[in-house]
Amino acid sequence: MSSFPVTRLRRLRQTSVLRDFVRETSLSVDDLLMPLFVAPQQLRNARLPGLARHTVESVVTECEELVRLGVKGVLLFGVPEEKDDEGSGAWIDDGIVQSALRALSARFPELLLVTDVCLCEYTTHGHCGVIVHGEVDNDATIELLARTAVSHVEAGADVIAPSDMMDGRVAAIREQLPTTPLIAYSVKYASAFYGPFREVADSAPAFGDRRGYQMDPGNVREALRECEQDVLEGADMLMVKPALPYLDVLRAVRDRFELPLAAYNVSGEYAMVKAAAAAGDLDEQAAAIESLTAIRRAGADVIFTYWAKEFASWLC
Ligand code: PBG
Repeated sequence: MSSFPVTRLRRLRQTSVLRDFVRETSLSVDDLLMPLFVAPQQLRNARLPGLARHTVESVVTECEELVRLGVKGVLLFGVPEEKDDEGSGAWIDDGIVQSALRALSARFPELLLVTDVCLCEYTTHGHCGVIVHGEVDNDATIELLARTAVSHVEAGADVIAPSDMMDGRVAAIREQLPTTPLIAYSVKYASAFYGPFREVADSAPAFGDRRGYQMDPGNVREALRECEQDVLEGADMLMVKPALPYLDVLRAVRDRFELPLAAYNVSGEYAMVKAAAAAGDLDEQAAAIESLTAIRRAGADVIFTYWAKEFASWLC
C-alpha cells in the first residue's frame, strides 16, 4: 500500500539547496588522508598521479602543496635503497621514512604524519614479515614491527598504522608506545586491488602470496574478531581495507564498535576509475566523489585515498 499521492519523495529533490539540506552523508577534505611514497629517486606516474614516488626533498614540496590545498594528513610509505631478508631498512635511524619524517615534522607542525608500519617494502622476498623455515614467522615479526614503530615516532610520526596483519602486533607496539595514537589495519583482505601499490612500493611477494596472513575475501565474522583483538590490544582506530568491495564489512564494523573507523580506498579502486575515465567511459570527478561518499555512508569516519590531493584541488 503506497501513501502516494500524499507522499512524494521527489519534493525534496527539486533544487540543489533542498538536496544539500537533506543529504545524510557529508564528504569533505577534512575526512581524507593522502598516501605518499618516499624513495631514493623520484618517479612520476602520468596515469596515476597519486601513485608517484617522491624523494625526501620533493615530499616536502608535495606536502607544502597539500597543506595549501587544505589536506590535513598524509600516510607515509618508504621504498628503501637496499632491501635485506629481515627488512632492517624499516627501522634504521637513517631510513627513508625516518628521514622524511624529520624533514616534514620540522616544517609542517599542523600536518598529521601517519606512517604505515610493515616490512614488505623492505624485505628482499617482499613478505610482510621475516621468513623462518619457509613461513612468515609471526612472533619474530611483531618485535621488528614494534621497533619500526618506535623509530617512526622518534623521527616525528604523529600516528602509526600497522598494516602487516600479524597476530599480536598492536599489543607489541602498544607496549613500546603507550601514548601514540594507533590506527590498526584491523581488517585487511588478501586482495587483487593492491596491484598498482605493489608496483610503486616495489613490494610484490617474490614467492607465494599473502593469504597466510591477510584475510579471506569471503569472511565478515572473522573481520569482527580481528577488530575485537585490536581493541583489546590498544588500538585507537580500526580500519577496513580495501573499501569499495567491502562496504558491508565497513558497515558491520561501524555497527559493532565505538572506535573511530578508517577505510583505505586502495590503489586498484583508484586505478579502475582512472582507466575507465581515460577510456571515456565515465566522468572521473563524479565517480570519485560517488565512491568516497559511499565509503563514508557505509560507516568510515576517515578515508585514505589517492584522490585526496585531486579532491582538494577540485574544491578550489
Ligand atoms: C603494505 C601495504 C599494502 C597496501 C598498504 N600497505 C600492500 C599489500 O598488502 O600488499 C596497499 C595499498 C593500496 O593498494 O593502495 N603491507
